[in-house]
Amino acid sequence: MSFGKMSVYDVYGAGGHAQVVIDVLRAQGIRVRRQYNDRPENQHPASINVLPGIRRVGLGRFPVLDVPVVLAVGINGERAELARMLDAHFGQAIHPSAIVAPSASIGEGTVLLHGSIVQPNARVGRHVLINTAASVDHDCVVEDYAHISPHATLSGHVHVGEGTHIGAGAVLIPKIKVGRWCRVGAGAVVVRDLPDHCTAVGNPARVLPDRSGEPTPDWTLIRSGHPEDSGLVAP
Ligand SMILES: CC(C)(COP(=O)(O)OP(=O)(O)OC[C@H]1O[C@@H](n2cnc3c(N)ncnc32)[C@H](O)[C@@H]1OP(=O)(O)O)[C@@H](O)C(=O)NCCC(=O)NCCS
Repeated sequence: MSFGKMSVYDVYGAGGHAQVVIDVLRAQGIRVRRQYNDRPENQHPASINVLPGIRRVGLGRFPVLDVPVVLAVGINGERAELARMLDAHFGQAIHPSAIVAPSASIGEGTVLLHGSIVQPNARVGRHVLINTAASVDHDCVVEDYAHISPHATLSGHVHVGEGTHIGAGAVLIPKIKVGRWCRVGAGAVVVRDLPDHCTAVGNPARVLPDRSGEPTPDWTLIRSGHPEDSGLVAP
């Protein structure tokens, strides 16, 4: 939908991260019509036109999404669930200060924040968050729902698995493979491949044996049928 020359989007999420995503959309010349929120207790006071989210009203009563939507929810597993639950066209949010090589590919719904860099031939999946000033170097692959935190550095040919969170300022040396749904601590220096579902911290990064990785999504949540069928019920 457009109002005059301006595009209009909805933003799913109403916490602090949603404020950043709204700032990005505005910088792209996009007007934000509504926000949706499943967590009233976390609502940022600057939020605008907030409607209850699909987890609060149930699948059947959630409004039709007739404009592009960006998932502005920081928890990777929640973005994965929402991408499955919502019958929507997902838009990207790419700040004008982000640098994306023409040969790089950026998936549906992905957010690139201020000053982030994606270098040639990198492939960034769907609903990924490349946070402020993070860099994704040439030939990297960042799978769906991953989050590369502020100032993290992925050297060339790094592979980050689905849903994995790379902490702020972490450094991954070239050709490292990090598994799916992992957590890499802030400031970690990753010099060896990491298995799925792990948490690793430090320099050199070591897996914490008593910790699991990023919470995995509930893949049984579906977009069609009744709320009861999908496990989504109104409060
Ligand atoms: C790695 C992380 C996920 C672990 O969280 P957690 O499971 O709650 O772990 P804890 O805080 O209980 O720490 C477990 C141990 O790891 C250590 N540790 C935690 N984070 C660490 C880090 N980033 N670097 C080095 N050591 C770390 C703790 O000191 C603790 O050590 P101890 O057992 O000797 O006391 C978290 O600390 C982290 O770094 N998250 C990244 C946050 C971030 O960058 N967010 C960006 C948002 S935009």
